[in-house]
Amino acid sequence: QQLAVGIDIGGTNTVFGIVDRRGNLLSEGSISTRAHAEVPLFVEDLYNALSPLIEKMADTGEVKGIGIGAPNGNYFKGAIEFAPNLPWKGVIPLANLVKDAFGLPVVLTNDANAAAIGEMTYGAARGMKDFIMITLGTGLGSGIVANGELVYGHDGFAGELGHVIVNTEGRLCGCGRYGCLETYVSATGLARTMRELLDTHQTDSRLRGLPPEEITSKSTRDAALHGDKLALDAFEYTGRMLGQQLANFIAFSSPEAIILFGGLTKAGDLILKPTVRHMEESLLEIYKDKVKVLLSELKESDAAILGASALVWEMKD
Ligand code: BGC
Ligand code: NA
Ligand code: ZN
Repeated sequence: QQLAVGIDIGGTNTVFGIVDRRGNLLSEGSISTRAHAEVPLFVEDLYNALSPLIEKMADTGEVKGIGIGAPNGNYFKGAIEFAPNLPWKGVIPLANLVKDAFGLPVVLTNDANAAAIGEMTYGAARGMKDFIMITLGTGLGSGIVANGELVYGHDGFAGELGHVIVNTEGRLCGCGRYGCLETYVSATGLARTMRELLDTHQTDSRLRGLPPEEITSKSTRDAALHGDKLALDAFEYTGRMLGQQLANFIAFSSPEAIILFGGLTKAGDLILKPTVRHMEESLLEIYKDKVKVLLSELKESDAAILGASALVWEMKD
């Protein structure tokens, strides 16, 4: 049988797996992204960690190719371009570098696009022709599927919804501009909101007095689960920012569903409820009560690994 490798490059870690045609993850591994400021060393490490897995699979099947999902990845060019949340600056022709290292065909796309394909092929979006995938991790990623196909746009960069400016005098973003959606709606955005609330309000909080680096999305979630007023406010604010923008995005492509995925969604209803409430409040009448907001059905990181590997099946020989 034929197998494919799926790789999901994240700001902190890079995870990979070997997948069969039915989407079974047969083996997986990971390396640090952050520890590799130099791309060639990253590729070398990836080779050292992944090629033994490929060799071990030799009895099970033959690996046809490698699919990569990466922040700021461009499917047309096989390159990562100007990624605010990766250690590598400028334009990185990663697909070619990985192809040379492994001697296998390589396809690369945006990480959230890969997650959308994973969800469409194996997860919550099975059978859907129109949906928007939103990934909430270090940044905010999106994959737009319309008429059954992923929207790439003229230059391959369609769907960079994390960098929609929602506040012209807003927070500094990793992309160098101010007020991007991901500075509010992401794991890091939630932590920033919590720090801001602590600075500007006297309200007592379990997180008060902690050093800033301990005010994270996780500690904010834990506090909110204990009923901490400020932490609950932080989720409410994040949900409002996201819900209002979802209402805007829905007007672009009239999706059947929005699928949320990534670290921040571990908060479950804490983020889902305010998001849906504000989305419904902000929606144009014609869309009201028609768009489902769903959490991913795939295990953390699997959506992008599976989606990236699914791209391999579409490659021409
Ligand atoms: C990048 C996107 C990426 C998202 C999630 C954003 O900062 O611009 O390309 O999909 O983060 O990683
Ligand atoms: Na995208
Ligand atoms: Zn930005």
